[in-house]
Amino acid sequence: MTRYSRITGTGSYLPPNRLTNAQLAAELATRGVETSDEWIVERTGISARHFAAPDVTSSDLGLEAARRAIEAAGLQAADIDLIIVATSTPDMVFPSVACILQHKLGIAGCAAFDLQAVCSGFVYALSVADAMIKSGAASKALVVGAEVFSRILDFSDRTTCVLFGDGAGAVVLEASDTPGILASDLHADGRHVGILCVPGHVSGGQVLGSALLTMDGKAVFKLAVGVLESAARATLAKAELTEADIDWLIPHQANLRIMHSTAKKLKLPLEKLIVTVDQHGNTSAASIPLALDDAVRSGKVKKGDIVMLEGVGGGFTWGAVLLKY
Ligand code: UT7
Repeated sequence: MTRYSRITGTGSYLPPNRLTNAQLAAELATRGVETSDEWIVERTGISARHFAAPDVTSSDLGLEAARRAIEAAGLQAADIDLIIVATSTPDMVFPSVACILQHKLGIAGCAAFDLQAVCSGFVYALSVADAMIKSGAASKALVVGAEVFSRILDFSDRTTCVLFGDGAGAVVLEASDTPGILASDLHADGRHVGILCVPGHVSGGQVLGSALLTMDGKAVFKLAVGVLESAARATLAKAELTEADIDWLIPHQANLRIMHSTAKKLKLPLEKLIVTVDQHGNTSAASIPLALDDAVRSGKVKKGDIVMLEGVGGGFTWGAVLLKY
């Protein structure tokens, strides 16, 4: 019998401190940085984001999301035999957030590692977990996207600091006789390393270079609209499906204009687009599982629905996972 993988539970968590655009703009004004609710909403679709308290880490946010996903799957933490965490804002240089999360879940022994593909991290991680389940290397995987992007924001740079937020999302992916993950398509183009990066690195006990995010927003925007369409089409072709088969499109939640353009290119009505960027901002690797969990818990995504997940971000990386929920 063919072995497939299927999502059996979703969970997410947002830190309680929610900042509206107006609140953020007022705070930035005290630093001499000018922005407005109007500009942020018009250019990005973002109205609010959540910021974690200073002592809260990606593994803390991931733990809450993971607990909810495990509960939704009807499992115990001890049932999990693989943990993959997609993050660009780990608790430490090493060990991985996945190992820290494993310990916080009160389990030990299963494989656990982080995957670094910036905002495409979750679709990369889901695709890797799917392959490991299909190969027999794992049966019950916990796949998490967890970020504290507020830690790497330059609050003197209005072109980036208004865009991002903190949060975590998780799914449990289990071996199944019937297909859940239908196809995936992953890509990277390292020629574009410089358009979205945190260039600093640790050397000799110090951080050399800037440890803050820098982005050429226009360059990212232009690349994103192209690759989100091509990745969706490639994934549909692998699954021998068409755009018309998609019930829900869940792209990386970075900018509503990019999301609308992707839906339009795929000839999907906007009603099929899951949008959480307005309330979460861009939470990088956490954005897709946060949006998926929101869509599942609000009753939009139902068992049997065909869902297209799409990531895009630093690297430059992009990819898609098509699944039957
Ligand atoms: O997670 C990875 C994926 N990341 C993305 O997908 C991000 C992709 N890029 C974008 O979403 C958009 O490029 C941005 C939202 C970052 C910027 O939008 P834009 O329409 O490309 O604006 P822009 O950079 O062309 O800036 C337009 C104007 C500029 O002023 P001038 O030069 O026209 O006078 C900026 O200085 O808006 C100004 N501006 C702001 N004004 C008020 C830039 N940021 C702000 C701000 N508040 N926060």
